[in-house]
Amino acid sequence: MARTPLIAGNWKMYLSLAESVALGQAVAASCAGLTDREVMIAPTCAVLSTVAGAIADSPVILAAQNVAWEQEGAFTGESSPVTLKDIGVSMAILGHSERRHVFYETDEMVNQRLLGALDFGLKPILCVGELLEDREQGQTFEVVQKQLSKGLQGVTAKQLEQVVVAYEPVWAIGTGKTASKEQAQEVHAFIRGKLATLYEKKLAEKIRILYGGSVKPENVDSLMAQSDIDGALVGGAALNPDSFDRIIHFI
Ligand code: PGA
Repeated sequence: MARTPLIAGNWKMYLSLAESVALGQAVAASCAGLTDREVMIAPTCAVLSTVAGAIADSPVILAAQNVAWEQEGAFTGESSPVTLKDIGVSMAILGHSERRHVFYETDEMVNQRLLGALDFGLKPILCVGELLEDREQGQTFEVVQKQLSKGLQGVTAKQLEQVVVAYEPVWAIGTGKTASKEQAQEVHAFIRGKLATLYEKKLAEKIRILYGGSVKPENVDSLMAQSDIDGALVGGAALNPDSFDRIIHFI
């Protein structure tokens, strides 16, 4: 079953309001005429509403970089999935390594966020990935499996169809060190196999698994040529309109 590739830009906490609008417009222009792939951007929360307006007439998908698990309440510093939907957000990055390692989000919190996103109609991108020390100790598959199965706890097969998984080896994020295409493909195939075990093979074949970690114009084509790599989650290179344009137009 053919999976539609997804190229996703994670802008992290970069760019002013004006820069975000300009980049949103540039990405929208890059997408003109593209029908065989999807493109998503995740600006910082404060500018989401304005960027939504700037890309309103384009196919660019708007995402949040995180989302609360409740609709409303005493959750200082969090964003409601319902409010995010109201302003035009349709996806949410969850469990990004910076959330896990800088803000100490646990698998349980990521799971709650994911269930909340699904409940309120946002499509989650569940990020998983090992630290360098995990890889060096031969723990990559164990770490990825744990983050995957805990992150998806309570998710039904029907709901899984809305979920995108992103494999982002922590040692490759923002470091310029990309996993080789073989290293990435190996973990992607493992993730698909795990999804087949947790759910069923036919469903696992439908789920998109993105690679993230120093994706650049120079390496995107060879990564995207791997059979289990269905897209890219791009940080640094998503902030430059020319680089992101090239990544969107991967061959
Ligand atoms: P990077 O970031 O492309 O700058 O490595 C990827 C990410 O954090 O999602």
